[in-house]
Amino acid sequence: MENNNRRHFLKAGLLSGLALCASSGFGNIPAGNTDIPAANSEKEKPKKSLTRVLGKGAHSIEVSALGLGCMGMSYHRSFIPDRKAMIALIRKSADLGVNLFDTAEAYGPVLNEKLVGEALEPIRKEILVCTKFGFIDGRPEIGLDSSPKRIRQVVENSLKNLRTDYIDLLYQHRIDPKIPMEEVAGTVKDLIAEGKVKHFGLSERDFNTSADGLDAIRKAHAVQPVTAIQSEYSVMTRNPEHGVLDLCEDLGIGFVPYSPLSRGLISGYINERTTYNPANDNRTSLPRYEPANIIANWGIIDILKEFGDHRGITVAQVALTWLLSNKPFIVPVPGTTKLAHLQENLWSADYQFSAKEFKELTQKLSSVKIVGERYTTGYPQQPNK
Ligand SMILES: NC(=O)c1ccc[n+]([C@@H]2O[C@H](COP(=O)([O-])OP(=O)(O)OC[C@H]3O[C@@H](n4cnc5c(N)ncnc54)[C@H](OP(=O)(O)O)[C@@H]3O)[C@@H](O)[C@H]2O)c1
Repeated sequence: MENNNRRHFLKAGLLSGLALCASSGFGNIPAGNTDIPAANSEKEKPKKSLTRVLGKGAHSIEVSALGLGCMGMSYHRSFIPDRKAMIALIRKSADLGVNLFDTAEAYGPVLNEKLVGEALEPIRKEILVCTKFGFIDGRPEIGLDSSPKRIRQVVENSLKNLRTDYIDLLYQHRIDPKIPMEEVAGTVKDLIAEGKVKHFGLSERDFNTSADGLDAIRKAHAVQPVTAIQSEYSVMTRNPEHGVLDLCEDLGIGFVPYSPLSRGLISGYINERTTYNPANDNRTSLPRYEPANIIANWGIIDILKEFGDHRGITVAQVALTWLLSNKPFIVPVPGTTKLAHLQENLWSADYQFSAKEFKELTQKLSSVKIVGERYTTGYPQQPNK
């Protein structure tokens, strides 16, 4: 029965986007208010579909409008939930139509890849698994390593951890200034020729400000066409609007926003009283999660809540629908450990803003000056627009 649901969704996803959008959603469960009064004519709606395409031509993949970020099931989100429950959640998300699963060697390290591998083994051929290389021993705190030798080592390990003989989308996790981009892309190109990897991706905190990021994308793409760029993007972190989204559009590269809910902040679910486990949570060291900054930035949540309250959608759903409405090649990978949050997040693909709503909401969001750096070191933050 569950398999039938999944197949039905994936098959249905191949049909025309807009028609589907109006009538059906993730998991074939009626998604509530799709007849939002403010959603005007079809012509006025920003284009959105339940399936999307990352990349171009032979280097493209058809994916669900939202993927599942699996990192928080093992790493950096304070608690580590019961393993069996997380395996069930990952499988359930596939039943609900998700086909894009995001992990990395660094998450754990390795623990998360192993979890994802076990969860997806029975349905491997039906889904797309994405992982990342780029750190010494898979540990960001030690340093970067994208040497060809290390890339190959990571891929061999990831194949074992993920219980598979191919990786659908292999990202460089962070640009390594010691290794020319052409060399990194050339190594991945060879791995693609060997059948161990299907597609190439690049990930960074902010391509606009770090290590000549836009240039790096161009150089890599010239050697091995890039299918997706992954970087932080949300209503609170709008850096990609300063160049990388335009470049993706020009080159035909998909864009995968990570931390699309700003690590849980854009939901109202965490607040200035929230405490984190310093042994397993990067939010303890990120200025944006300091109580005073959470309070100072709460205006963003008020705007999303006010907008959602009038339309029957939640803060997290408004934030995710806003991302999806920006560009048709955007595919966020929100993370969750809860079925209720997963379902809530997936349903955000069912809603459509009219062009007017989108513009007005964007203007309001842009009026809030976000305080608190995203990261403590490395890359300066762009203004919130
Ligand atoms: N490439 C990179 O460098 C990079 C960096 C960071 C992350 N990532 C990828 O992006 C994925 C997502 O990023 P992320 O986990 O940092 O941030 P996120 O998706 O913005 O937020 C995840 C947090 O939000 C909570 N949450 C999710 N849906 C919710 C909802 N509907 N209502 C209330 N709370 C909700 C989750 O808690 P619950 O578990 O309680 O739902 C979790 O703590 C990761 O899993 C990873 O795959 C990549």
